[in-house]
Amino acid sequence: ANNSQGLEGFPRYKVANIKQLQGSCPVYFFAYPLTDEPCFLVDFSKLNNMKNVEFKNPYANQFRINTNFKDIVGVGPKGSICAFSAVCVHLGCQLPAQALVPSSSDPGLNPSTSILHCPCHGSMYQLDQGGVVVGGPAPRPLPMVLLQYDESTGDIYAVGTNAPYFSEAVPRRRPRDNLIYDPRYSYSVPSNPACVRV
Ligand code: FES
Repeated sequence: ANNSQGLEGFPRYKVANIKQLQGSCPVYFFAYPLTDEPCFLVDFSKLNNMKNVEFKNPYANQFRINTNFKDIVGVGPKGSICAFSAVCVHLGCQLPAQALVPSSSDPGLNPSTSILHCPCHGSMYQLDQGGVVVGGPAPRPLPMVLLQYDESTGDIYAVGTNAPYFSEAVPRRRPRDNLIYDPRYSYSVPSNPACVRV
């Protein structure tokens, strides 16, 4: 299965090959669509043994474009790979998806619950429910990047998103006005292989 819908105007380009996801780490970082917009692939077959994942799009019917866009499916040989923005939609801190943590109350990604916990103000996103908010101040789900998979080459393509990423609601004048990261300054894409067990 492949995803073919999403917000219009996004490019389609290769973000990884399946061979790059062969280690035990369930997370792989990439940038999309711009080089300073960090996103990550998560392979649920490694995170929590989910295969052929299919989510209700948490943003269905919230945008004028593609209002019939109801489902997002996992890609790859096991239908288990999805992707999310790595920027918290509360105030824009970068999410440490590479930090595999033993408890959902720790900042990072807890494999047993698939909850990604933002270090800034404690927003919690449940990745295996499509990034819905299960705690903290985040006002909306974590945006997903839509993927397509080429079985003949193993290439994984990003083709769009289901929602806008974080954008600044309050103007800030200097980098230090933000807590950790500010989109006008630099988000960085963590290097791969990504995982750090905390
Ligand atoms: Fe993530 Fe505030 S920026 S909880």
